[in-house]
Amino acid sequence: MASCATSSPAIPRHLAIIMDGNGRWAERRHRPRIVGHRAGARAVNLCIDFCILKGIQALTLFAFSSENWGRPEGEVGALMKLFMNALEREVDELDRRDVRIRFIGERERFSPAIVARMQAAELQTAANDGLQLSIAASYGGRWDITQAARALAADVAAGRLRVEDIDEDALTRRLTLADLPPPDLFIRTGGEMRISNFLLWHLAYTELWFTEALWPELDAATLQGALDHYASRERRFGLTGAQLAPLQESTE
Ligand code: IPE
Ligand code: IPE
Ligand code: MG
Repeated sequence: MASCATSSPAIPRHLAIIMDGNGRWAERRHRPRIVGHRAGARAVNLCIDFCILKGIQALTLFAFSSENWGRPEGEVGALMKLFMNALEREVDELDRRDVRIRFIGERERFSPAIVARMQAAELQTAANDGLQLSIAASYGGRWDITQAARALAADVAAGRLRVEDIDEDALTRRLTLADLPPPDLFIRTGGEMRISNFLLWHLAYTELWFTEALWPELDAATLQGALDHYASRERRFGLTGAQLAPLQESTE
């Protein structure tokens, strides 16, 4: 995860999104929350189309958090059905469009049928080098860091790693998404200004953008608004603006 100060390309390489507001979208229409989740699934397709069109290399979507397992049983069950249906319906088309799909999170908590579908989707699209699509499901940033710490401890215990060689890179390599650049831009819909246990480590220097728009209301203009904001940012990575100027000239 390089975090060196260079001029950012106008288009983020990696976009990470908290897709929030499905329930409120439905409640405002006096409909069950699951209707909002269904509408949210349509917004996922719109978002993927937008990223492909813009040449964004990687998209990571927060679909279901570690904490979301605590929602009422009926909502969790309906979400699982929706998830299964989406896997059945969308994977072939995404594969045709050269999208590589992967899932990050504690997948042991899903039913064997869903785990099998996830694995099949990953296998089917593993060689694709178009959009790198990561779905964070049963995911928590704390879980991610914890499993990386456990992997470090296992390597030390097995004699493959010395304690003094544990550094930020060693931990980063054991996190999910280790092969991707960290997100350049983070978007959260639904108006809440929080991270809600998403990619805690990876977001260290990500540009953050929040919108009141609820996820099912997402449109290309909203996404473009986020990209425009991103293009106007000076990413200093702890340096001063004056230090960045010569670096930027040398990369132009
Ligand atoms: C996000 O929408 C989807 C999931 C967390 C699964 P919410 O269901 O959180 O919608 P709001 O925030 O209650 O409106
Ligand atoms: C974050 O949304 C998780 C996902 C969008 C998958 P939540 O709705 O669960 O987050 P909080 O409860 O508002 O923090
Ligand atoms: Mg929410």
